Amino acid sequence: MKGVIVLGTAGSGKTTFTANFSRWLNGNFLIKSCPVNLDPGASSLPYEPSYDIRDIISVEDLMRRENLGPNGAIVRAADLIVDRSEDIVESLTSLDCDTLIIDTPGQMEIFAFRPTGRALCERLSRGMRLLSIYLGDYDPKRDLEDLLSSAFLAKILELKLGVKVIPVLNKSDLWGGRDFSDVWEAVLRGEMSVLEGRNGVYADALQDLLKAISSFRSPIRVIPISAKYFQGFGEVFDSLNEAWCSCGDMT
Ligand code: GTP
Repeated sequence: MKGVIVLGTAGSGKTTFTANFSRWLNGNFLIKSCPVNLDPGASSLPYEPSYDIRDIISVEDLMRRENLGPNGAIVRAADLIVDRSEDIVESLTSLDCDTLIIDTPGQMEIFAFRPTGRALCERLSRGMRLLSIYLGDYDPKRDLEDLLSSAFLAKILELKLGVKVIPVLNKSDLWGGRDFSDVWEAVLRGEMSVLEGRNGVYADALQDLLKAISSFRSPIRVIPISAKYFQGFGEVFDSLNEAWCSCGDMT
C-alpha cells in the first residue's frame, strides 16, 4: 500500500486536493485510490472518505461533551489521536485500497508542533510507503516573508515527520497566466537573488534565513497545480512515483 499525507497551511486547498486528486487517480490510472479524512474538526467534506477520523474523535463532540472551546477541543483531539494511533493505523492499513490520499487538519500546528503528526507518520510508515505533499498557495501580492515562513514550515514538517515532502503550489488558476512556482523554488533553494532591491540589517537577517533554508539541502522541485481545476496532477503523480521508486531525480 502507498500513502500520501496532504499537509499545508489553513485554506491552502488540502481538502480540495484530496477529493480531486483521488478522483483523478481513480479515473486515469486504474489505481484504487481512497480519500481519508484525518481532520477531527472538518465540518463537511466534498468526498466520501474511506476512513473518517470523526467516527472516533470529533472536535464538535469534544466541545459538547467536555465543555471545551474550539481550540481546547482541537488540542484534546490531537492528544486522543496519539492515544488511538495504533487503532487508526490498523484501520487505514486494512482498507482495500492501493493508495491513500490523507487529508489532515486545517490547524497544521497539530502536525507541526505536537506529537500527533510524528506518531501517526511513524506508525503509518511501517505499513505503507508514505510520502507527503506540502501545499502552499501563492498569490502575487504576498511578501517574500510569507514565502519564507511557508518554506520553513515545509522543512520543519519534513524534519519532524520523517517523511519526504514534495512541495506543491496550489491555486495556479489565480496567477493570471504566469507561473510563480519558480519564486517559491528559489526561496526553498535559498537563492539570494530573491532579495534583490533589499538592503540594510533586515535584508541581512533575511539572507541568514535563506542560508538556513538552503542548508537543509533536500531535493527541490515545486509543482504548480490548480486542485480545483485538476491541473498539474500528472506532474504530481510523476513526482510521487519517482519518490516511491527512489529512482528519479527530484532536483
Ligand atoms: P482547511 O482544512 O480549512 O485549512 O482548508 P483546506 O486546506 O482543506 O482548503 P480547502 O480545500 O477547504 O480550500 C479552501 C478554499 O480554497 C476553498 O474555497 C476552495 O474552493 C479554494 N481552493 C482550493 N483549491 C483551489 C484552487 O486550485 N484554485 C482556487 N481558485 N481555489 C481553490
